[in-house]
Amino acid sequence: MVSKRLKSISSLINYGEDIIDIGCDHGLLDIYLTLECGCHCSCCDVNSNIVNRAISNIKKYNLLDSINVFVGNGFDDLGLSDNQVMVMSGMGTSTILRILEKNKTHDIICQTNTDLYSLRKGICEMGYCISSEDIVFDNGRYYISVRFSIGSSNYTYDELLLGPCLIKSDSKIFHDYINNLYKKIIGGYNKSILFESNNSELELMVNCLKKYIKSQS
Ligand SMILES: C[S@@+](CC[C@H](N)C(=O)[O-])C[C@H]1O[C@@H](n2cnc3c(N)ncnc32)[C@H](O)[C@@H]1O
Repeated sequence: MVSKRLKSISSLINYGEDIIDIGCDHGLLDIYLTLECGCHCSCCDVNSNIVNRAISNIKKYNLLDSINVFVGNGFDDLGLSDNQVMVMSGMGTSTILRILEKNKTHDIICQTNTDLYSLRKGICEMGYCISSEDIVFDNGRYYISVRFSIGSSNYTYDELLLGPCLIKSDSKIFHDYINNLYKKIIGGYNKSILFESNNSELELMVNCLKKYIKSQS
């Protein structure tokens, strides 16, 4: 019932934790976490039609008494308590960072496909460290989930770009991800050299990726 991508988020959640899933869409993650991980879930979405769909999914599993679903915009103060683990997945980095200006708890789990460097950097600058990460390949794409916990951190550029836990894991899927990323950006980088356009950010990224491609052999 639940995709590899959503299971990857659940792999960062401890049994029985309190969850607030912001941007829950279909509510499938919350159903899974309630049934399989003993979690106490609240979930919201800014779109009321979407919330109605989540409610009908939750009803199918007879979980309306267990999961608190509501229409809510993460840009408003949601009155969260610190023991709730925030989950934000399928949203862009800028949306996630804007939500965190209004709502923060001790632990935050994010899964975004846009600019993971800015996500890690932005949240760590708010006083968090990265406690765990997971990567999966699902439906032709790589998905990275990151759990942040309150704490100090001092990550290098490489760690912010690629993930301190993923770098340490040295796993095959991590290296496949690096190779894929490298292939995606190298064309643009070579073109930027050809046209002498400003490429300092791309250059940093390419040089970083090269190190981890080498370490595979
Ligand atoms: C692409 S879906 C991802 C759904 C689910 N989290 C997942 O990973 O499968 C993003 C959802 O976030 C909701 N959303 C976007 N901005 C939001 C905000 N500021 N507050 C609450 N929900 C938001 C959208 O309505 C949409 O249902």
